[in-house]
Parts: sequence; C-alpha cells; structure tokens
Amino acid sequence: MKAVILVGGEGTRLRPLTCNTVKAMVPVLNRPFLEHMICYLRSYEIRDIILTLCHLPDSIRSYFGDGSKFGVKLTYIVEESPLGTAGAVKNAQRYLDEPFFILNGDIFTDLDLGAMLAFYKQTRAKVSIALTPVENPTIYGVVETDAQGRVRHFIEKPAWGEVTTNLINAGIYLLNPEVLSGVPQDTHFMFEHHLFPQLLDKGESIYGYSSEAYWIDIGTPEKYLKLHHDLLKRYDEGLTIQYTIHPSAQTEGKVLIGSECHIGPRVRIEGPATLGPGSRIKEGAQISGTVLWRNVRVGRQAILENCIAGDNCFIGSGSFIPQGSVLGDNVVIESKSNLPPSSRIWPGTKVVKH
Ligand code: GDD
Ligand code: MG
Repeated sequence: MKAVILVGGEGTRLRPLTCNTVKAMVPVLNRPFLEHMICYLRSYEIRDIILTLCHLPDSIRSYFGDGSKFGVKLTYIVEESPLGTAGAVKNAQRYLDEPFFILNGDIFTDLDLGAMLAFYKQTRAKVSIALTPVENPTIYGVVETDAQGRVRHFIEKPAWGEVTTNLINAGIYLLNPEVLSGVPQDTHFMFEHHLFPQLLDKGESIYGYSSEAYWIDIGTPEKYLKLHHDLLKRYDEGLTIQYTIHPSAQTEGKVLIGSECHIGPRVRIEGPATLGPGSRIKEGAQISGTVLWRNVRVGRQAILENCIAGDNCFIGSGSFIPQGSVLGDNVVIESKSNLPPSSRIWPGTKVVKH
C-alpha cells in the first residue's frame, strides 16, 4: 500500500524550534521526527511513501534520499506555494490508483493501521478518518459520528460551546483516490474545511475509526517535550550511546545521551532527558526533564528544568533555565542569568544578565 505524508506546513506554533529547522526534521530522541513516522509506516509494510513538501524541502530530501537507507521508497512532490492538505494530495494524484493512507506529518501514534484498513474495507466507504480522544478538542478538528461511526459533522477548531464530543480528527485518513476528483488542481484546498464537508453534503458516507492508542501531535513546544517524556518512559535500557561521563556524575531515570557528549564532574542528569550529539555539560550542572539538541554547552552549576535548547546553544555558568523555556538555535545565555518561566528565545539571541 501507499501512503502520503503531508509535510508542507511551516510549523509556526513550534517556533522558535522551527525557525531554522522544518517541523519534520525536528529531532525526537536524536532522530528527525519524520524518521519515526517512516518507521511506523514500515512496521505495517507500507513502504511506498509520497512526501508532499513545500517549506524548506531540501533538508528533508538530503537526509532521506530515495528512502533505501530506511527500507522504504520515497517520492517527493514539492509545491511552489502551499496547496493545503487536499490540494497537496491532488498534486500527487498521478501516483495514486488504489486506496491509500494519508498522514499529517506532525503526529506520533501507535494507532493500528491494519485494524483501520480492515474497518475501512468493512464499511465500504470511500473515506475513513482515524479519531482519537483528547482533553482539549478546541485546538483540533472535532468529528461527530453516529453509533456506527458514520460521520455526521466536522467542526474545525471549535469554540468550547460547539464541542459535542472529545473525539477529534487524528490526522490519518484512508482514501479511495476517486474522491480526489472533487479537489481542484493547483488550488489551495483542505480536507478538513472543504473536501470532507462537501462529500457529506453530497450524501457520501465517511466513517470514523476511533482508537484509544497513544496519539500526540507535536504542534507546540509543550507537546514536543511531552512526546520525549512519554517515549523515554517506555524504554527499558540501552539508551546511552558513546559518551564520556565523569565518574562522579550521576544520571537517574531514562536519559538518552547522544554520541560524543562530555559530562563533567558532579553533573546530575535526571530523566526523562535527551542530550543531542556533541553536547558538553560542565561541572556541577543539574539537568532535569530537558531536551537538548546538538552541541549544546551548559556551564558550571547551571540548572535546566523541563526546557528545550536548540543546536549550539551556550548556557553560561550559574544560569537558571526554568520550566517551559524554549531556546532556538545558537542562543547564548550569559552567566548567572535567570530566565522567566516559559521564555521563548529566538535563534541567535544573546541574553544578558539583568
Ligand atoms: N504539503 C502540504 N501543503 N502540507 C501541508 C499544507 C500545505 O499547504 N498545509 C498543512 N500541511 C501539513 C502540515 O505540515 C501538517 O503535517 C498537516 O498538513 C496538518 O497541518 P497543521 O497545520 O499541523 O494542522 P492542525 O494541526 O492545525 O490541524 C490538523 O491536524 C489535527 C490533528 O493534529 C487538522 O487535520 C485537524 O482536523 C486535526 O485534528
Ligand atoms: Mg498539526
């Protein structure tokens, strides 16, 4: 079977992490997010994958190539300007002649694609949509169904007063390519706002396949951090790769340390935490619940709590980076600085102590 992954969005809500890095390439456990999605598809023997790209396509192409290193075949389709979710798939129509999966490029899930396919065949509908329960449906697309799962209504990003169910569109569809005839060519067009509601108006049946499996989208830094914590908690052992750790340093809980990291004396790292390759943590620093990208340097006695730091950040000695802080690439934090909680620091900024 084929699958299309939608990777054309700009990832604005993930800024400053996506100022220099396209959302699909943001590292998750030190590998690009999209690599996890490709492995997920491959685990269901879905190896013919079409990537619809728009924003910054080159970094994705140069990393994944033809897909052979990852055990899949990749086809790239690049939009000149964003065509929207349905417009992007229409643009790939020449590759699609049988029912196929479509996945939003920012979701991480264990949802059973085999069971979803069986459900799709059983309903004989032209479209199935995976549904997942969430606590706050207002930031997603709510999908109302009847008791058999037949979709009655879509409400994208509803106000709380409009929320009638906690089941939302999980960003995975099974589509019969025939329905692409309802999508105009070279035009910005969305499944969520346009094609799906139009199919319902015409009396076509669409079924929701609801699943309680793990599901998250990495739309915001908070959810990106939560994904790391959830994934690290699942691992048993063997997360550490080559690194140099001083005998007096301590790690506790699940800690993933990338290659060529240096961890100095009396450093304390409390998991779940990830250190990107080449990071250096100096004497007495304390790190807990954090995600550090590549080559992050943390000075002596600095304290980092549940925060994210992009590539090549420099955190001066004695600084305090509290809960929810997000540092873009190449941020420099002067020694003994105290950031306010949930700070967002743009790439290349130098934060001076005040
Ligand atoms: N190729 C291409 N072209 N891809 C696009 C475009 C485009 O013009 N616009 C968006 N995408 C991709 C994004 O990169 C992302 O992977 C996916 O389509 C969904 O776009 P988002 O911008 O992340 O949408 P959302 O998170 O607000 O809402 C969507 O996902 C929710 C689940 O996470 C909707 O499908 C909601 O209904 C759904 O609940
Ligand atoms: Mg999204």
